[in-house]
Amino acid sequence: MKKGSWMYLIIVLAVLGLVGLNASGVQAKKVGGGDITYTPKGAGPVTFSHEAHKMKCNECHTKIFKMKKGNFKMSKEDHGKETACGVCHNGKKAFAQTSEADCAKCHKK
Ligand code: HEC
Ligand code: HEC
Ligand code: HEC
Repeated sequence: MKKGSWMYLIIVLAVLGLVGLNASGVQAKKVGGGDITYTPKGAGPVTFSHEAHKMKCNECHTKIFKMKKGNFKMSKEDHGKETACGVCHNGKKAFAQTSEADCAKCHKK
């Protein structure tokens, strides 16, 4: 091969490499529906992280939650019921929503 063709080959490979990296970067950015933040009145904001909940999608969708944010409501009283987050956050499957020591695991200042 001539010197010029080698340069051409190297440039093509470099461009393909960059495109490949970019595509995988986009895929790795977000797990499931990403982070979803709730801002209830009378309590600190709560961020639900898909990243921290590495389970099968059908553990939650769609028997507990729709695949769209803002489709459930949880009052303070609901915290002790087997509904929404409380299906798992009941002190058995995951930390409870009713013990004062655990409020700050969900509600941030
Ligand atoms: C532990 C429970 C849980 C699991 C497991 C889960 N999700 Fe979600 N997902 C949620 C919640 C909670 C919401 C928001 C629902 C709401 O606000 O009404 C949500 C919302 C979404 C949304 C909508 C986001 C938006 O901005 O409207 C998509 C898309 C989504 N999930 C995809 C997935 C996929 C794909 C998986 C599997 C890789 C998955 N989820 C696993 C709980 C879960
Ligand atoms: C597993 C996560 C989680 C834990 C633990 C938790 N909460 Fe919440 N809480 C939420 C979410 C999510 C909302 C918002 C629900 C909505 O938007 O309807 C909320 C909403 C609230 C609200 C507003 C209710 C309303 O009617 O608008 C109060 C008050 C509250 N929480 C108090 C507490 C207290 C006190 C504790 C500890 C004893 C606690 N929470 C523990 C997730 C949690
Ligand atoms: C299908 C079961 C399930 C549901 C539904 C669920 N969680 Fe969880 N969550 C878990 C498990 C399991 C853990 C990890 C075990 C533990 O820490 O007790 C966890 C951990 C967490 C953590 C600590 C990890 C972190 O993100 O820093 C937070 C906060 C949390 N959940 C918030 C929520 C909120 C808010 C909801 C409702 C929107 C919710 N979870 C619904 C099972 C669930």
